[in-house]
Amino acid sequence: MPLSLHPAPIRFDESLEVIEPDEAQTAQSLIDTLTGINETTLRHEGHANRAVHAKSHGLLTGELIVPGDLPPELAQGLFATPGHYPLVMRLSTVPGDILDDSVSTPRGMAIKIFDVKGPRLPGCEGDSTQDFVMVNGPTFSAPDAKKFLSSLKLVAATTDKAEGAKKAISAVLRGAEKVIEAFGGKSSTLLALGGQPETHILGDTFFSQVPLRFGDYVVKFSVAPASPNLVRLTDLPLDLHDRPNGIREAVIEHFAREGGEWEVRVQFCTDPEAMPIEDASVSWPQERSPYIEVARIVVPAQPAWNEARRASIDDGLSFNPWHALAAHRPLGSVMRARRVAYKAMAAFRARHNGTAPCEPKSIDDLNL
Ligand code: HEM
Repeated sequence: MPLSLHPAPIRFDESLEVIEPDEAQTAQSLIDTLTGINETTLRHEGHANRAVHAKSHGLLTGELIVPGDLPPELAQGLFATPGHYPLVMRLSTVPGDILDDSVSTPRGMAIKIFDVKGPRLPGCEGDSTQDFVMVNGPTFSAPDAKKFLSSLKLVAATTDKAEGAKKAISAVLRGAEKVIEAFGGKSSTLLALGGQPETHILGDTFFSQVPLRFGDYVVKFSVAPASPNLVRLTDLPLDLHDRPNGIREAVIEHFAREGGEWEVRVQFCTDPEAMPIEDASVSWPQERSPYIEVARIVVPAQPAWNEARRASIDDGLSFNPWHALAAHRPLGSVMRARRVAYKAMAAFRARHNGTAPCEPKSIDDLNL
């Protein structure tokens, strides 16, 4: 049965992307700024962490389950073949320095799916992984890569400085965020600056924020709690007072007892004016195109974070939206900048930590 979406999803077309002449220069400046963050934290911590999303709170293994009865619009790319695909999930927070969790910032979810078949993007032809890299808010903090560069330069200037001040600012911003929410909004600018409420990360919904190709169509991608035990954690306050690793402890505690299930959802672009490809700061209206479930992620009870997993997943892996099938090509200015930035920064980590920057062929290659 076809989907009943009115208007119908627009078809992917190369002309949806508009490439600016100075994009290579912007991408290089992003790499230079991210390298500055990495060099500062390397000097202080003696280890090359991610330039952003350095701290991991959950390092999980599970399965992506693609059902066999999807309507034709949803049976695209990876989702065209029903099956159970092994995956690794990394939960993180945004800063490039490893901060006390009371400096509350947006959270990330990165997923690497294994044993994926089909034509691939240039640069990863020999691989068999599909990554999705998301944050717990529907829109990106900047419309394009160039505007993001300006705010990244500000963040870079505060790396490793004044953790106490960051805690204070974060507390103030959390208050401001509540005021905005009371009026029915959500400010990603405030969240990015530290206004993230102190809640359980396993109740959060994650978004690609920026579009990607979905076979014949264009979508934004999202992962949301589905099993009642995760849904129950949505907006559940988490006391992080004097618990510098409180988010991670809550994840470990949950998966020591039980598993969890998330739904994987896509939001089709049905109107390129209202749902722009090149402006990442615009929220695609859900009343005009709702998120629709396409698959499930099932994660069993397990040790959710330990040193072996940290070494194997934090240090050994790179999650990158360009590790992908051609059918899931990232789209828009922000995505194009990520193509070179993630590769360069993963190489920086590998160089300084003495690891090899190569993509695993199977989940069994990870030492978990
Ligand atoms: C131009 C814009 C962006 C740039 C330059 C950028 C850059 C980076 C870099 C360099 C890393 C670390 C890569 C590594 O060392 O392996 C990273 C990680 C990450 N980014 Fe971005 N990013 C951008 C936009 C986004 C967007 C739009 C999202 C999600 C909505 C996002 C979510 C994440 C997450 C969750 C991680 C951690 C991935 C992991 O667990 O390994 N980023 N980003």
